[in-house]
Amino acid sequence: MVKPFFFRNHPAVPSLEERIEKIKKENVPAHVAIIMDGNGRWAKKRSLPRVAGHHEGMKVVRKITIIADKLNIKVLTLYAFSTENWKRPKKEVEYLMKLPEEFLGIYLPELVEKNVRVQMIGDFDSLPPHTRRAVRKAMEDTKDNDGMILNFALNYGGRSEILSAVKGIVRDVNLGKLSLDQLDEERFSSYLMTHQLGDPDLLIRTSGELRLSNFMLWQMAYTEFWFTDAYWPDFDEHCFLDALEEYQKRSRRFGGI
Ligand code: FPP
Repeated sequence: MVKPFFFRNHPAVPSLEERIEKIKKENVPAHVAIIMDGNGRWAKKRSLPRVAGHHEGMKVVRKITIIADKLNIKVLTLYAFSTENWKRPKKEVEYLMKLPEEFLGIYLPELVEKNVRVQMIGDFDSLPPHTRRAVRKAMEDTKDNDGMILNFALNYGGRSEILSAVKGIVRDVNLGKLSLDQLDEERFSSYLMTHQLGDPDLLIRTSGELRLSNFMLWQMAYTEFWFTDAYWPDFDEHCFLDALEEYQKRSRRFGGI
């Protein structure tokens, strides 16, 4: 339910605050993951360069972080760059690698102030040094915050994460630190980058694409999916609440009845 701006102040249309008020506090997803898609198409529709869409998308990251925190969501994971995104034109990759710096350069003080903790999953070591510096600083400056975790999936791939976990397990088995009998789903999860974050309860993907794109493949076994046609730069707090309201109507059975 994306409402045009001019309807939002109309008394018949619930305001953001009214909608937030109606969210059932006891059934808020603890972990929300988002595939922020459609930046390029948003820009193309406006005859702008693709990177203009990424830049606009960065502002939406702030908006959604603030409302997620307000709703008491514990972890917000945002897919900012996949291991496959290196295939994009060099200039676009360079721009995407500068975005964390720009985002954190502007908003880190606000995140610190809001008690948000910044974390990252993905291959940190293969990021350019300037991106590593910005992300490391944000993680360091917010490490004592115990509010919402804003977790960027950056240079992240689900298959590669699973493969690393398997390698870690084989290594520990060979070292005698782990026996195969001890290996169960919980133990396997402890070798993943998300071991302290838990599995997402809700996945949101924007821009009308209906696929996972190598995102948290193990972790999404029982995640609720919610898709919208809105491009990420057009996504806003009302769209986020649409997703949450729908989530609260779902019955999660985890394979039971
Ligand atoms: C997918 O849209 C989007 C990305 C690959 C980048 C996502 C990055 C942001 C939203 C910016 C915020 C990032 C940080 C770190 C604050 P697309 O380019 O594939 O869009 P298209 O499918 O329309 O071409």
